[in-house]
Amino acid sequence: MKNKIIALENGPLHIIGTLELKDANGELLEKAEELFLCRCGNSKNKPYCDGQHKKTGFQNDGKFKKPPVSEDDLINEGALEIKVQANGPLIFRGVACLQDSAQQENIMRKVGGLCRCGQSGNSPFCDGTHTKADFVAG
Ligand code: FES
Repeated sequence: MKNKIIALENGPLHIIGTLELKDANGELLEKAEELFLCRCGNSKNKPYCDGQHKKTGFQNDGKFKKPPVSEDDLINEGALEIKVQANGPLIFRGVACLQDSAQQENIMRKVGGLCRCGQSGNSPFCDGTHTKADFVAG
């Protein structure tokens, strides 16, 4: 199964593939084939989406502004680890195809940081704004 990370419009990250979700201590939370992970910063059940983006009116078109360069020679197979970074982004390791909300972009990467504070200027990628925003989440 190919790994895919999709930034949904005004919503969470939709991640599909052979997935291993780990907490900030590196403990396995679950193995899954599909995850919806919070990127608005407001979920009461982080790292999972709990629908708060609707209540809080999270606005994000899910389009890429300055995406990283695609590493097109990567082979999309194997497990994708997604690890929570305390007070910061989700870090993925393992090959994944990153897609915008329109699924027009196909950026291949083997490591990256995905914003989960909801305030990145380069969403869905982390740009370090979580530090200035004093984002607190385990
Ligand atoms: S987690 Fe949002 S900018 Fe880093």
